[in-house]
Amino acid sequence: MIYLDNAASSPPYKEVLDEYYRIWRDFFANPSSAHNEGKRAKEILEDCRLRWAKLLNVKPNEIIFTSSGTEADNMAIKCIPWGALKKGDKRKKIVISSIEHKAVSNSAKFMKDQGFEIIELPVTHSGYVDLEVAEKVIDERTLLVSVMAVNNETGVIQPVKELAKLAKKYNAYFHTDAVQGFAKIDDYHNLSGLDIDSAAFAPHKFNGPRGAGILYIKEGTPIVPLLTGAGHEDGRRAGTENLPAIFSATLAGEISLKMMKEMNNKFREYRKLIINTFYECGWNIEVIGNDALTIDSIIALRIENPEIINFVEYFSENGIAISSGSACASSEYKIPSPILVAMGYSQDKALNFIRISFGFLTTQDEINKAVDIIKSMKKF
Ligand SMILES: Cc1ncc(COP(=O)(O)O)c(C=O)c1O
Repeated sequence: MIYLDNAASSPPYKEVLDEYYRIWRDFFANPSSAHNEGKRAKEILEDCRLRWAKLLNVKPNEIIFTSSGTEADNMAIKCIPWGALKKGDKRKKIVISSIEHKAVSNSAKFMKDQGFEIIELPVTHSGYVDLEVAEKVIDERTLLVSVMAVNNETGVIQPVKELAKLAKKYNAYFHTDAVQGFAKIDDYHNLSGLDIDSAAFAPHKFNGPRGAGILYIKEGTPIVPLLTGAGHEDGRRAGTENLPAIFSATLAGEISLKMMKEMNNKFREYRKLIINTFYECGWNIEVIGNDALTIDSIIALRIENPEIINFVEYFSENGIAISSGSACASSEYKIPSPILVAMGYSQDKALNFIRISFGFLTTQDEINKAVDIIKSMKKF
């Protein structure tokens, strides 16, 4: 099987897997324990916080370790407004984009039930948040704006810098779901250069483990805990820290950032080769998103072919693992991609959608094999 679904989850680097095992074996003690074993574990935990602060160019106390990207997004969307409310902030307006991952959009829905007003920013036909509309929508009543760094289905890079600036003009907090942006584009290893208050990261997207997530939260941003319990993470996120996952996530982050440029060059070539193969073989495809605004590791395609109902299954039967958009929705292949619908595609057109995504461990040999397979596949 040629694995081209790295945007859903990526295989671990060998050293990440080895270190996960070593840290679990040698540093299993609870980092909150007072004995020496606990202190040794705590030292490793705090060193990881320092290393993440360095990776993102922020302060160590601005890093909170969570269990996943989803948890980090939940914290930002729920706990910043609650934290602000607790401090007497009267604003209730939360602005998100119409193409957010469910970790953000369903958290916003939850906040709607809590009495907050939720406004969705539309996207253009190329999948980019509409800045003109944003200028009209974001105002002095806005408490929080949340727009993702890179869309997980189309790979389109969003105008986070411009939107964060707009939010700051009105003193609103700005969160970005950077799960698909880290180690893909430059902005997300220098958060100080973006006018943002929080950002969510998920290591299993860059060859790290599941069971760990990272939330950057700018010093001074109001936040209450989502999980209450003991005083872990400086009282901001209760639950004994998952040290093997946090340590190997840190290592994966460092390796991925170091290799980012080289990998993006490689992905650009893979991208061209795969897209050209579809065209050369006569597949009726449409590449989604504008090349200039899309990360190199994701190809989003619409394929016109009424004979094939489930493209993911069809490609899988032929030896290539791809996805029909978000992994969370890939079993629902009869449901049109909500992202394409938000981009203005009809329900019918949004059905025939596939996502091919490369990872740090994807090799030229695998791509050559994928090309051969695509060439040999029946188009009906
Ligand atoms: C853009 C985006 N945000 C959030 C998430 C959720 O992250 P996790 O799988 O770590 O919960 C994902 C995962 O698919 C994602 O792609």
